[in-house]
Amino acid sequence: MSTTITSAPAVDTLLDRRSIRRFKPDAIDSQTVDALESAAQHAASSQFLNDWSAIRITEPSLKEKLAAIGRQDYIATAPLLYVFVLDEHRNAIIAETKGVDVSEQRYTLRYGYRFSQAQNDAVLALHAMETAAESLGLGCVILGSLLNDIPELIAALHLPKYTFPVLGLAIGKPDQEPASKPRMPRSMQFFDNTYPTDDTPVRELATFDDEVHRYYDLRNAARPVDAFSDQIASIAEDETALDRGLCDAEAQGFDLGR
Ligand SMILES: Cc1cc2nc3c(=O)[nH]c(=O)nc-3n(C[C@H](O)[C@H](O)[C@H](O)COP(=O)(O)O)c2cc1C
Repeated sequence: MSTTITSAPAVDTLLDRRSIRRFKPDAIDSQTVDALESAAQHAASSQFLNDWSAIRITEPSLKEKLAAIGRQDYIATAPLLYVFVLDEHRNAIIAETKGVDVSEQRYTLRYGYRFSQAQNDAVLALHAMETAAESLGLGCVILGSLLNDIPELIAALHLPKYTFPVLGLAIGKPDQEPASKPRMPRSMQFFDNTYPTDDTPVRELATFDDEVHRYYDLRNAARPVDAFSDQIASIAEDETALDRGLCDAEAQGFDLGR
């Protein structure tokens, strides 16, 4: 358990957060599911547009399919699995009932600013659900890997025009106890008033590198993880993510250049 600065249970939950990638097979009861979904719905929403939806993945074959897309077996074993999508489809239907022209040139919720705000809303809702789950003793892992193949994911979930997948969230009773992953010295990440012009953002990097290198990830417990700078260096020149571009958003009716 991390050192807490207050005794508030919500803060303790947040400070104790770590990703869980192995779940007990126990089903999650419906009251808990209600609480989690309600917590997600109570997250803030930009201009109250409520422009996100979440797909519950309950079909085992669909879970397997998502595990194949994510190339992570534990996705299929999650008792609860959601895919959060940004959703301007529902708002198009609603606007249309009020006589608004939602054809591509006229519908302003399909442009870049709204897309990014809707993505924020979806992430905030997902995070509220994650925190609620953890406060109830459940474990979670966020799944960006579902975006390995965005067209395949869109097809599998039948996502309509003006929707786009954001992230998955796997939830279940934890069947592992990973150590808390180190976080940066706060001086590297919090600045006063303006972004520093000196070396403040990296001044304590060597200390952080050491700390990260001493951490053991349960996914590969045989060796310590790479130092933080080595991880950044390798991801900075990794080209595999280039085909996971938001250009797929165009096929869903969005125009992010505007
Ligand atoms: C946007 C996002 C996408 C992520 N995608 C995955 C994923 O696909 N698979 C996975 O195992 N972990 C995923 N994670 C979890 C991160 O690897 C994890 O949060 C990070 O290594 C820090 O570890 P911790 O959560 O245990 O503190 C994701 C986290 C975020 C925020």
